[in-house]
Amino acid sequence: RIAGPCGLVLFGVTGDLSTKKVMPAIYDLANRGLLPPGFSLVGFARRDWANQDFAQIVHDAVKRHARTEFREEVWKQLAEGIRFVPGDFADDVAFAKLRRTIEELDQERGTAGNHAFYLSIPPKFFGDVVGQLKEHGLTERDEGSWRRVVVEKPFGHDLASARELNAVLADVFPTGSVFRIDHYLGKETVQNILAMRFANELFEPIWNANYVDHVQITMAEDIGIGGRAGYYDGIGAARDVIQNHLLQLLALVAMEEPTSFAADSLRIEKQKVLESVVLPRRLDLSTARGQYAAGWAGGEKVRGFLEEDGVKKSSTTETYAAVKLLVDTRRWAGVPFYLRTGKRLGRRVTEVAVVFKRAPHLPFGPTATEELTHNALVIRVQPDEGMTLRFGSKVPGTQMEIRDVTMDFAYGGSFTEASPEAYERLILDVLLGDPPLFPRHEEVELSWKILDPIMEHWAGQGRPEQYEPGMWGPSTADEMLARDGRTWRRP
Ligand code: BG6
Repeated sequence: RIAGPCGLVLFGVTGDLSTKKVMPAIYDLANRGLLPPGFSLVGFARRDWANQDFAQIVHDAVKRHARTEFREEVWKQLAEGIRFVPGDFADDVAFAKLRRTIEELDQERGTAGNHAFYLSIPPKFFGDVVGQLKEHGLTERDEGSWRRVVVEKPFGHDLASARELNAVLADVFPTGSVFRIDHYLGKETVQNILAMRFANELFEPIWNANYVDHVQITMAEDIGIGGRAGYYDGIGAARDVIQNHLLQLLALVAMEEPTSFAADSLRIEKQKVLESVVLPRRLDLSTARGQYAAGWAGGEKVRGFLEEDGVKKSSTTETYAAVKLLVDTRRWAGVPFYLRTGKRLGRRVTEVAVVFKRAPHLPFGPTATEELTHNALVIRVQPDEGMTLRFGSKVPGTQMEIRDVTMDFAYGGSFTEASPEAYERLILDVLLGDPPLFPRHEEVELSWKILDPIMEHWAGQGRPEQYEPGMWGPSTADEMLARDGRTWRRP
């Protein structure tokens, strides 16, 4: 899969995401030979830069963050296609120049009128930018060429704002030309959830309420918010990652088999799951939130969330969120899905744990199975990508004693190929026009619909509970599971 003639226009070139993810991913794709030789990258920003200045920014970003080796000849070829257009989003002259630049590139580099507009900018500017693109004829294409728009989250902050954003985009770009990035869907292990479920006979027969006790989806980070207060304060953990990454994981774990891997078939099944999600009646008993306090993490003294630069001292933004959801379908009737995420937790790990019911009968006598817990299948999204199956086994010896053991599959042990970075995969898919890994507007809106009542509930709750850094979140999260007779896994 190699992209045909095309280019990418990047808005928001100075943002963290552009320099840490987008620019390096473009270089890595070029280095792997997956971009056309005439590929062009145009930066657009309110900076007084010439082409060379922007090329230098890209160069530095690539040197620092690319995953593949730096090769001068690859960089040189890529750099020849780099252009910069200075201007702000209200600047007609700048958009006219953008149009000329693209036309020149079509001539000089053979980009053939195919361009993706990548909006790595706050959503409040989406309307201005796509409006300008339309106004200046940048969304019109000749027969046989394409124009696409790529948008980064946050895709709104609630259902109403997400609908507005979708309407703004739909006004200018047809559905098939809008690519919403949820970088979790670009991760190998996330895609493997479907491979594992639907390429095997082993798991699917027990993947339902008859056998599954509950599901835990964890995305834990050891880092704090770093320099992202401007984005994070007021947004919080639930909007930042539950609305998108974790609900997408839930959809993949819970969905029915799609009729094919085409975007529409996948979306229909994911959408059914999201439509079936219901919140427990008592949100006070089935959600938890917290803020990391000052303390020690990884042998280092760390600041609390409220002391981070740029965070309001009175902030009630949560840096930890846990929610219990139910999927109201025959397959999942009565099976809780517990989702949690947090900053400054014990370690960085993302995993999906499908925890099975206990065997209906144990013929070994009560003491033999004291150390036996539930069977569990854990899909480790990151790090140490792989899967672990926990089951009971006899302890060697003359007595019958049964204890949990684990069977591990590690990507690194079975495959020599390194997984591509999520952004590489997703950017390549945009350039190829391949939509299965991009959530459609229906999914985004349904996810907000799930989250909105929780956010509303929390809004009236004052400051979240403080939790110790390097641990596993607030005590209310543990109590939430204890009420159901369960405990969180300690990954
Ligand atoms: C982003 C969130 O979507 O995902 C960040 O905005 C978070 O807050 C990041 O740190 C984590 O991504 P990953 O790929 O490191 O799990």
